[in-house]
Amino acid sequence: MDLGIEGNTALVTGSSSGLGYASAKALAEEGADVVINGRDTKKLEKAVKELRKTASGKVIGISADLSKEEDIVHLVDGTIEEFGTIDHLVTCVGGPPSKKFTATEEEEWYGAFDTLLMSVVRLVQETQRYLKEGEGTIVNITSISVKESIDDLVLSNSVRMGVIGLMKTLSRELAPEIRVNAVLPGYTETERVEELIDQSIERGDISDYREGLNGLSENIPLQRVGQPEELGDVVAFLCSERSSYMTGAALPVDGGWSRSNL
Ligand SMILES: NC(=O)c1ccc[n+]([C@@H]2O[C@H](COP(=O)([O-])OP(=O)(O)OC[C@H]3O[C@@H](n4cnc5c(N)ncnc54)[C@H](OP(=O)(O)O)[C@@H]3O)[C@@H](O)[C@H]2O)c1
Repeated sequence: MDLGIEGNTALVTGSSSGLGYASAKALAEEGADVVINGRDTKKLEKAVKELRKTASGKVIGISADLSKEEDIVHLVDGTIEEFGTIDHLVTCVGGPPSKKFTATEEEEWYGAFDTLLMSVVRLVQETQRYLKEGEGTIVNITSISVKESIDDLVLSNSVRMGVIGLMKTLSRELAPEIRVNAVLPGYTETERVEELIDQSIERGDISDYREGLNGLSENIPLQRVGQPEELGDVVAFLCSERSSYMTGAALPVDGGWSRSNL
């Protein structure tokens, strides 16, 4: 299937590894020019090199911390300087720490708010005028935790709901020029999942990585955790004209893990 995004420009945040990286890869392989981002410059450079091996369009990396407003301005300005416009904005950022409510400090709440929600607000504020010029799309990578709360992830369960409220509101306010959708990944084998399993091992809940992976797969009808490419392909589809009648949707990509009917 031709996604029809060749020559378009995509800004994919939080994309030097994991789900953002897989989304950038899918878009770059379809011929889009892609800007990837992360905080660690060495990791970012390595990811750019890797992506260029299979990309049809151009790939560059811009380092920025998405919890900081000035960094977001720098990221968008850098994208415009290089490519002149932005057709697709894909928002992704590292997840908050795994904690119970009673162990969560006030500053961690504000940190999660800045990183998960305000980063999306600011990215949209900075990019919307460019997205409006063409048939712009926004895809927010969030979590299946917006459908069903996940134990020990109080910050994710709470703050990400704000992103869904924002996505739905934007899908109405920015229509018809810009389409806005969200993807809700379930357990997908990235550094983030390795980190969550390590935290469970530290808490003494499980003894090793394999046990952690098996535990996560237990309640998944497809009987395994997902691979990042499986999420990246859905993101590329939502950016493309193949999804031209979709806006305001929050799409689970979770192997059937969520039991929610809607
Ligand atoms: N993997 C899953 O199973 C899963 C499931 C549901 C939801 N999610 C959510 O999806 C998102 C991506 O997850 P992932 O598994 O792909 O994580 P990951 O492998 O840890 O990748 C996170 C990416 O975001 C970058 N990043 C982190 N914090 C940043 C910041 N403040 N500013 C700029 N870039 C930042 C990281 O690079 P630097 O560290 O160098 O900045 C990295 O490129 C997270 O919010 C996660 O909670 C993941």
